[in-house]
Amino acid sequence: MIPSYVFSLVEKDLDNLNQNLKSMVGARHPILNAASEHLFSAGGKRLRPAIVILIAKATLNSNIILSSHQRLAEITEIIHTASLVHDDVIDDCITRRGVNTVHNLFSTKIAVLAGDFLFAQSSWYLANLNNLKVVTTISKVITDFAEGEVRQGLIHFDLTISIDEYIEKSFYKTASLIAASCKGAAMLSKINSYQENECYLYGKHIGLAYQIIDDILDIISSSNYLGKPIGLDLKNGNLTAPVFFALTESNELKYIINSEFENESDIKQAIEIIKSSNGLKKAKDLAEEHIQTGINIIRSLRNINQDKYHGLVLMAQYILQRIY
Ligand code: IPE
Ligand code: IPE
Ligand code: MG
Ligand code: MG
Repeated sequence: MIPSYVFSLVEKDLDNLNQNLKSMVGARHPILNAASEHLFSAGGKRLRPAIVILIAKATLNSNIILSSHQRLAEITEIIHTASLVHDDVIDDCITRRGVNTVHNLFSTKIAVLAGDFLFAQSSWYLANLNNLKVVTTISKVITDFAEGEVRQGLIHFDLTISIDEYIEKSFYKTASLIAASCKGAAMLSKINSYQENECYLYGKHIGLAYQIIDDILDIISSSNYLGKPIGLDLKNGNLTAPVFFALTESNELKYIINSEFENESDIKQAIEIIKSSNGLKKAKDLAEEHIQTGINIIRSLRNINQDKYHGLVLMAQYILQRIY
């Protein structure tokens, strides 16, 4: 199977999305306009809107989605991009989607405002869906981002953090949006509340796996491939799944992290230690568990429509295959 084949199932819908996004984020002020359009034009995988569209097709049992689904997919991508603009300020990240980050190209002040602007735009479009249940579900996500980023900011280089706390933080910063947008898409299809919640859980588990995989890629991938710098998590003292597992095997790694990479060669050495440990494999196993849970949830809904739900299984598999 070609890993990104799943995106071809929603290609037309994503073409529409890309066109709409440009007009949706238009700001009156040219600087805000340029800043917010900057990252949209650079691309991105459009993973979250693809998931929304797949949920829409599965729950409607049709290839034609509602205009409210299309709009929700767009809102989801705007919220995600807003969070990246702010996240890149916090993480001191200079490139994203293969181009300079907003704060790097403009300034930190502009990036803060551009992120706020995008969050505000998304809220406006969300309100205009005229569906209170969906508004309630999606608006919580913006609070969750702040919670996730603050939690992360408070535990830099903290070796007392458990893997459970890492997972909880990852829920807030990443899985919450994916879960809520799956549930929102299910709500728009007017299926029953049990099924809505199952869609939420599917999104939550593949969202957690997505963050774990992103954290693995930060260690093993390349900046060219990802369009963003690698090794930044470690540099910032953001301890992730592979690091947690490697720490159980290496006191040397504990020592280097505890001293917050005081020598220039320390980060390189830390990466070597992680790569030669079982940390990457254990992190991958953890991601795989979440992917499998997500797939099982979708399969248990299969009696509704086998064909249409298959795209959601493929999406879960795609996420895992990113590290191969
Ligand atoms: C990056 O998200 C942030 C994470 C939650 C890991 P993506 O990897 O989906 O970034 P884009 O949208 O494709 O640029
Ligand atoms: C995800 O975490 C950030 C958000 C969802 C806001 P990361 O900090 O790992 O994302 P990248 O690696 O910068 O894309
Ligand atoms: Mg980041
Ligand atoms: Mg990352």
